[in-house]
Amino acid sequence: MALVNGNYLKLKAGYLFPEISRRVKAFSAANPDAALIRLGIGDVTEPLPQACRTAMKNAIDEMGTPEGFHGYGPEQGYGWLREAIAKHDFQARGCDISAEEIFVSDGSKCDSSNILDILGEGNRIAVTDPVYPVYVDSNVMAGRTGEADDGGRYGGLSYLPITATNGFSAPLPAEPVDLIYLCFPNNPTGAVATREQLKAWVDYALEHKALILFDAAYEAFIQDPEIPHSIYEIEGARQCAIEFRSFSKNAGFTGTRCALTVVPKGLTGTSASGEEVELWGLWNRRQSTKFNGVSYIVQRGAEAVYSKAGQSEVKALISFYMENAAIIRRELTNAGLTIYGGEHAPYVWIKTPAGVDSWGFFDHLLNKANVVGTPGSGFGAAGEGYFRLSAFNSRENVNEAMARIRAL
Ligand code: MLT
Repeated sequence: MALVNGNYLKLKAGYLFPEISRRVKAFSAANPDAALIRLGIGDVTEPLPQACRTAMKNAIDEMGTPEGFHGYGPEQGYGWLREAIAKHDFQARGCDISAEEIFVSDGSKCDSSNILDILGEGNRIAVTDPVYPVYVDSNVMAGRTGEADDGGRYGGLSYLPITATNGFSAPLPAEPVDLIYLCFPNNPTGAVATREQLKAWVDYALEHKALILFDAAYEAFIQDPEIPHSIYEIEGARQCAIEFRSFSKNAGFTGTRCALTVVPKGLTGTSASGEEVELWGLWNRRQSTKFNGVSYIVQRGAEAVYSKAGQSEVKALISFYMENAAIIRRELTNAGLTIYGGEHAPYVWIKTPAGVDSWGFFDHLLNKANVVGTPGSGFGAAGEGYFRLSAFNSRENVNEAMARIRAL
């Protein structure tokens, strides 16, 4: 009999989004005529930029010729894409990041989980609460946590609460930790970190020799030029941080799949015997062994994001979703709800009405307005009493959803 990975048996509930799908499916089965509007999972809805589609079509035609055919590509990504990323996303913002330090991948969700392959057992891990569930669940699956308590908090993790009381800015850990997951703009709260706040994290990490795992998947939504897009805008971050980026939310690649992880050269961890080991080499080894790269066609599409046409189309997409977020903010505020986020992020974080918990509000909106959102408690115990709406949908659906909620 094959033994299963017992760590999976520690997982508290289904992964949040499949659990929501399950409930929505049950509702739809019972109410086949209900016209649901989905503002739950943060999946984009607008078509792929023309510049990306043209580049992908050209790449397909190229692949149809003997000279233009590509088999296995470099596991780290094609040099031309890595160069474009380094130049536009990092060097243009003053970050000292080279193409060689960029690893192209098929998603930030995968990378932020897979990174645990190169990190040892016994690390003390800090996550915010609420948090993107993947950070926690991937640690549970990898056996890096204890059991969950009744509140769904796993032993061995340091939870840093982010609530309205602290302005959704996590306090520095009270006890020393080795790994810190940060996500800015934040999923789920939509909060952003100022330069000073990020500097405090970098200083902490340098002082405690901790590693920051920085998820910047939503950086394109930042509207204020003073807010950093990358952790590497902070001095010292090369010595203490890995950054995850994605083409999913800016260029609509959720179904196309392309992302990247930055592992600076010279960033080190420690071996069990106390030697310093470069993480770049380990990640390179891991990717070369377990990953065969993103398809040539998709990488050509991602490269087109950096063309003049691609940049202006991405800008238009971001403005479109941010206008949706502004509508949600305005309408829900008018409906008497307390609203956070949605100014530099596609997520609006809502305080549920007094006496209604997160799943209660989920059910209320589902049953009475046929609007699907995400219960804050699904992101962690401190998310209880909050609810997330995503700005990823058509203008028509956002307006209709707001009209239905207003009418409740
Ligand atoms: C979310 O809704 O939180 C997103 O879909 C997360 C993700 O991109 O995986």
